[in-house]
Amino acid sequence: MDEKRLLQILADSLVKTLGPPPTVAVVLGSGWNERAAGLLSDPRVVPLSHFPDWPRPRVEGHAADLHCGELDGVRTLLCGGRVHAYEGYEAREIVRGVRALVAWGVPNLLLLNAAGSLDLERPPGGLMPLSDHLNLGLPNPLHAGQTVDTALTFTSLVGLYDEAWRAALLTRLGLPAGGGADVRPGVYAGLTGPTYETPAEVCMLAGLGADAVGMSTIPEAIAAHAAGARVCAISLLTNYAAGLGGSDPDHLEVLDTASAHGERAAEVLRAAVLAAPLE
Ligand code: HPA
Repeated sequence: MDEKRLLQILADSLVKTLGPPPTVAVVLGSGWNERAAGLLSDPRVVPLSHFPDWPRPRVEGHAADLHCGELDGVRTLLCGGRVHAYEGYEAREIVRGVRALVAWGVPNLLLLNAAGSLDLERPPGGLMPLSDHLNLGLPNPLHAGQTVDTALTFTSLVGLYDEAWRAALLTRLGLPAGGGADVRPGVYAGLTGPTYETPAEVCMLAGLGADAVGMSTIPEAIAAHAAGARVCAISLLTNYAAGLGGSDPDHLEVLDTASAHGERAAEVLRAAVLAAPLE
């Protein structure tokens, strides 16, 4: 079936199952699942398996559910079960859920991830709202065969990560425009993984101007932006990237660090939802 038709079916199914679209949809990444669900009052929980053709993780440990409820009066959807390029998914599959959410009518998309810090002054546990990205190999959902439009478009990515939303988030956290000690905007470098970067690559990425490195987010941000949604993204820094400060990244350590800093991450997630511009 063609992608456009698939998305229409998914959007219809979202309306039928959950009613009108939420003000904010949040894509949870590694490390963010644990406390997020507790932020919603009276959530309705629907497994992704309820929706035909919504790609689901091929790795264990990512809860693949939608939670729809109110977060301090803002209708919010939390989406577990992000899929990645390293699982063998193509761009159109990686972004299908996000495109379906925008087709449903979601105006604001918050993308969360875990990332390695490229800067000794951004220690693990810190949070980095994305000001921009470097795409170093993640698949582009606007390529022919991946886009929903028949005509290829040359899309500007200036302002991809919504500046007003990011500024409102920092204000809500009581921080100045440049951020504070543990929440500071920066540039995210996206690589395909699933290997962590080599120490030489980490030096290169820092030299290129990136502040953190991860394996997700960029395809979804591009697809949502091109479809007309506002995008905000936040990295939870779970480790120093390889070689930095002697670091040798390990997935279990990444999850442990995320868990240890879950409370602050949940606070920032709540502030980001409440900072989303209302239509
Ligand atoms: N590199 C890439 N992705 C990551 C890292 C890292 O160091 N930590 C968490 N996700």
